[in-house]
Formats: sequence, structure tokens, C-alpha cells
Amino acid sequence: MKVNSIISVLALSATAFASPQPKGHKHLPTTVIAGVEVVDTQIVRDAHALIAKFPNYLYFHCMRTWLLGAATINANATLKAEVDLEAHALGTILHDLGWDMSTDSPWVTHENRFEVDGALGAVSFIKSHKSYKPCYWNTARLERIFDGIALHGTVGIHPYKNVDSKWITASVGFDGVNFTPEEVPTASFNSVVAAYPKDDFQAGAIETFTWMAATKPDATYNTFVELFGTAYVPGYNATGHRSFDRITAGWNPQ
Ligand SMILES: *[C@@H]1O[C@H](CO)[C@@H](O)[C@H](O)[C@H]1NC(C)=O
Ligand SMILES: *[C@@H]1O[C@H](CO)[C@@H](O)[C@H](O)[C@H]1NC(C)=O
Repeated sequence: MKVNSIISVLALSATAFASPQPKGHKHLPTTVIAGVEVVDTQIVRDAHALIAKFPNYLYFHCMRTWLLGAATINANATLKAEVDLEAHALGTILHDLGWDMSTDSPWVTHENRFEVDGALGAVSFIKSHKSYKPCYWNTARLERIFDGIALHGTVGIHPYKNVDSKWITASVGFDGVNFTPEEVPTASFNSVVAAYPKDDFQAGAIETFTWMAATKPDATYNTFVELFGTAYVPGYNATGHRSFDRITAGWNPQ
């Protein structure tokens, strides 16, 4: 091989390594909501318009999740450069589609746990959006959003996930009932909670988890929602449906 062709092969492979699959999230337009800079693309606006139709306890929770997460990411320039901010926006805004208690909900299934309804719903929303292009919303981005949403009711896994899934789940964790997150800058926390108050959140969350246990009990056993069924739904009985019951069946400790 001539030196020239060796150099051109090296140059070619260097170019290939320097151009990973585009995440499609750089240099996006932004706006400011409740004092927090966020991505302002049409698909994010449309996701926002979708959740604005939900009752305020749910709409405000999804907005706080997005904004508290974005404020925390924005406060760290290294992190801000790493995170796919448009995927973070959609993953947080749409994470609770599985909470939709309306009778004709296009998001809620009978068989899936609510986090999976949200994850499938978010991916379906993106794929059916008029701007959807498979090269922009590639499989990797969609999987990161799916995982970030699907993991939001399970503790202990998301810290070890990719940065995008991790921050979608972590952002949901910033908006707990009876909880003030230390990671979120105080000024942003105050401006976000003032714009989207938490007043009805506890009552809405308890009503929603209780409704899930009553209407789709099979999707709640072995999850934290099981406890709402046991506490608040007459006739709900998880015993016999739990992994614990199967694993301990026939076991006679000596
Ligand atoms: C900022 O984010 C980077 C990348 O995730 C992390 O390594 C670093 O610890 C963060 N800095 C602070 C001050 O939290
Ligand atoms: C719940 O179901 C288990 C298994 O079928 C049964 O043994 C138990 O008595 C039930 N508990 C109540 C409170 O009905």
C-alpha cells in the first residue's frame, strides 16, 4: 500500500469516528418558561399542548418535572452539553400519559403498568407527529426516551443508565409529593412551583394510583401501586399474585 492511500484510509476512518450518529439536539431554538430556559421546537410545543388538556394536578406535575429537570441540567454546562435536551423535554412532558383517567384515553391500556403506557405513548406521539423523520428520531433516541419514562416508578436502576434516560427519570424524582429536591437550584424551584403549584398533587396522585389498582389490578401487583390497592381499594387482594407468593409456595422452612 502506498503511503498516500494509507493516509487517506486513516483520514477516512478518523472522519467516521469523529461523526457519531447525530443526536439531532444541538442548536435548537429555546424559550423561557417560569424562569427556566427550555427547548422550543414544534414537537415540544405540541407535547406541551397535549398535556395542558389534563387536569391541573397532572399538567402541573409534568410541567414541573420538565422545568425542574431542565433548570438542574442548565446549571451544569458540561451536563447541558451532554444531554439530548429535546428528548429530555418530551420524556418529561409526556412521562405520565398513563395517568389519563378519561374513559376514552388513547394512552392507557388494561395490561401495562402505567409507566409503560407512558413510555409507549411518548414514542407513539413522536412517531405520529407531522415533523417525524426516522433519521432525526432514530431508534437510539426513542429507546432513551422509552427507558427514561419506563423506569420512573422503579428505584435503583436509572443512575446507571445513559445520560438521557437517567435525567428523564431523575427529573420525575425532583417532583415528588412532600419532597424538596436538593439538586435543583433554589430560585428555579421557587419560580417553577409558583407558576405550577403543587396544591392538588398529593390528592391527584393518590386518586390516580388508587384508580389504577381498582381498574387494572394485574398491572399493579409487584409494583409500588400495589400498596394503594391494598390500602384503598375494597376487595383488592395481591396475595397469590406476587413474585413472593410464587417463590415461597411449597416452601417449608426447617
Ligand atoms: C456536572 O456534570 C458533569 C457531567 O455529568 C459531572 O461529571 C459533574 O460532576 C457535574 N458538576 C457538578 C458541580 O455537579
Ligand atoms: C387474599 O387471597 C388469598 C389467596 O387467594 C387468600 O388466601 C386470602 O384469604 C385473601 N385475603 C382476603 C383478605 O380476602
